[in-house]
Amino acid sequence: MRIQYLGHASLSIEANGKHIIVDPFITPNELASHIDFESLEADYIVITHAHQDHVYDVEALAKRTGAKIISNAEIASYYGAKGFEAHGMNTGGKFSFEFGSIQSTIAFHSSSFADGTYGGDPNGYIIESEGKRVYIAGDTALTYEMKLIPDTIGQLDLAILPIGDNFTMGAKSASIAAEFVQATKVLGYHYDTFPPIKIDKSEAKSIFFNRNIQLVLLDIGEDLAV
Ligand code: NI
Ligand code: MN
Repeated sequence: MRIQYLGHASLSIEANGKHIIVDPFITPNELASHIDFESLEADYIVITHAHQDHVYDVEALAKRTGAKIISNAEIASYYGAKGFEAHGMNTGGKFSFEFGSIQSTIAFHSSSFADGTYGGDPNGYIIESEGKRVYIAGDTALTYEMKLIPDTIGQLDLAILPIGDNFTMGAKSASIAAEFVQATKVLGYHYDTFPPIKIDKSEAKSIFFNRNIQLVLLDIGEDLAV
């Protein structure tokens, strides 16, 4: 799998020749102004929860690409009612798609659309493809449920964790989350976009380093092979 960081909590994942965009919030993000939104490819759009900083670009992207939306039942119904193709899941469920499988995980957060519409429970996702397993935590607090992941799902090749604090885990909690899921390599996301989540990157890296975990922080547009 190839994972490109598109800023904030937005990712572009290439898996088995398919393109998956996670939580597209690109056009309003000044830090991502060099990303050409109109040229992004998407066969699937995966959404962790309904907050604006995760769904802002969903409709424009789905309209242009015809991508299938994968999310919880409430978010899938919301976009389904607007005429988009959507696949609803719920916490704990796993399903196979053309690129591989996705399993929905517990995330401890909230989830509502900008207009107040209920967005169901927030989720993380575990994507399995090309013999690799990647955990995308979504917006979440540190939660003991994360300990279930290595025992019940298996060893992770990469954990993608929020580290910006205020709305989600900060680096310290995220480094404990990495231990809970037994990840030795973490891609940090959900930081620097807004004033309350600006971080000291070298401090964050040393917090993880002290637990023998590698924290990778990509420039926006940069990618990582898993
Ligand atoms: Ni959120
Ligand atoms: Mn968020």
